[in-house]
Amino acid sequence: MSVEKCTKSIDLSHHLSELSKARITSPLKGLQKYFSQPGILALAGGLPSPAYFPVSDVSANVLVPESFALAPTESSTSFSWLWKLFSSHNSTKENTQGITIPKYSAIDGDINLASSLQYGAAVAEGQLQIYLKHFISEVYRPAFEDWTVLINTGNTDGWARAVATLCNPGEGVLCEEWTYPSAMASMLPANIKPVPVAMDGLGMKSDALENLLSQWDPVSRQMSRPHVMYIVPVGQNPSGSTMSVARKKEIYDVCVKYDVIIVEDDPYYFLQLGTYVFKDDRSPGVTSSGRQSADESRQYVSTLTPSFLNFDHEGRVIRLDTFSKTVAPGSRLGWFTCNPLFAERLERHGETTTQAPCGFGQAVIAKILMHWTYDGYIRWLRGLRTEYQQRRDFFIDCLAEEFHLQAVPAIAGVWQGCTVYRASSKVKKSPSTTEKYPGRNRTMFSFVPPVAGMFVWMKLHLDQHPSFTPGDEDTLETKLWTKLAENGVLFGPGWMFAANAMSKDSVSTDAGHFRVSFSNAEFPDLKKAVTIYGRVIREFFEEENL
Ligand SMILES: Cc1ncc(COP(=O)(O)O)c(C=O)c1O
Repeated sequence: MSVEKCTKSIDLSHHLSELSKARITSPLKGLQKYFSQPGILALAGGLPSPAYFPVSDVSANVLVPESFALAPTESSTSFSWLWKLFSSHNSTKENTQGITIPKYSAIDGDINLASSLQYGAAVAEGQLQIYLKHFISEVYRPAFEDWTVLINTGNTDGWARAVATLCNPGEGVLCEEWTYPSAMASMLPANIKPVPVAMDGLGMKSDALENLLSQWDPVSRQMSRPHVMYIVPVGQNPSGSTMSVARKKEIYDVCVKYDVIIVEDDPYYFLQLGTYVFKDDRSPGVTSSGRQSADESRQYVSTLTPSFLNFDHEGRVIRLDTFSKTVAPGSRLGWFTCNPLFAERLERHGETTTQAPCGFGQAVIAKILMHWTYDGYIRWLRGLRTEYQQRRDFFIDCLAEEFHLQAVPAIAGVWQGCTVYRASSKVKKSPSTTEKYPGRNRTMFSFVPPVAGMFVWMKLHLDQHPSFTPGDEDTLETKLWTKLAENGVLFGPGWMFAANAMSKDSVSTDAGHFRVSFSNAEFPDLKKAVTIYGRVIREFFEEENL
């Protein structure tokens, strides 16, 4: 499929749910467009006077966009344990600049509290709208002409609204076989069920999707063919997989063929970390400390894997972006990029639920973005990427210290096409111990270093456990997870991330995983957690009777 010319989105109104079709404009919100008319004497709304807002300005010290290096430093690549200990963020002096948001601004249109803290349209502050539109056109470059942007309170809100706008009770939603549990939890109470699609090392498989849709039997499935897909294509939660452009295009084409709307939940888009390289083979990169130029921004953005929007010539993608992983989750701010019909329906939903995201959050984030400028924000995102890359590298270096890792190509299953690291014990057993499996060679778990996101997805080789019997995976996973928790280490239990984990008819076929996040703990704690994990999992695999 090639796209020559940017055209308008096609009519996709048949995808709207009954609930969404029934939504009317909130009567008072319908007056909103008049409020912004110059000179209007607005006496219609229940608006408090800004004179009574108790905050006369908001000031913040904001990190400069160049706060984090663009490449790991030499000391970090050589795995200096002391360096890791002493370079903790707390000890680094932060380089900040002050911003202030006044209650009333001297320049028309500038961000000010009198309007940010007032009731407003559920769309976005004027300047934030303009900024996001510019950002989207530079970074995602949608392939259809009439895309629009609507803010929300983050991707959780975005997905919940998308479900209500598109799905009727009794319908199913296509999703990866391992997926983000909160997304499933938001649709299940409305009797909207996950329809898992098999994955490999690049995420959802396009051939599996095609087979599923082409052979769909509504009678045996007791459900009409799904017309909505939920997908996390970059740094997938929990598997860590990242989809190639070619795979995205294949998935997109299948969705066009079967008329499926793609909801692209992409919080880890800017955490594209690159391939993990063993510490001995790593070389320090080059970093620059000056302001980032427009050319550098363009060059960097071109290295990022494109969004589905980039080849969505029909307007069937609803993209969810969030500031949760790039600014702060507590800001509760994100946005939809989608066709105007869906945006209008999503807005109608928003105006009777959250109304608009919190004015403080919107004003502060908008002000930071204006202050940084587009190039500054891209520079910030590049620095964040490097920070998380170092965390990932450090965590995997710790695993390599603690375990014997053997690299093998995966020929089937969820990691097909990737190099998998199989972890066995480095600890030699005392000769007096007799055991069914020689400790050194027994694979206890395996993983693929993620190229994006915040998670390492570990597959436990529970069939190597002395007391394993087929069908026992869930029990063994829970036992090991509990032992770890009792020893002070909390991993995400794998069963939670099975697409149908919360359905009443849940059948777990491939149990035995942990999702481990390297994004938040300090380096010494990551090291400590891996050491404890090493001890606990070795003991676990040596126990005959659990
Ligand atoms: C795939 C996915 N979607 C959504 C979210 C939540 O995003 P937000 O904070 O924007 O609601 C997360 C957070 O972990 C996530 O991993």
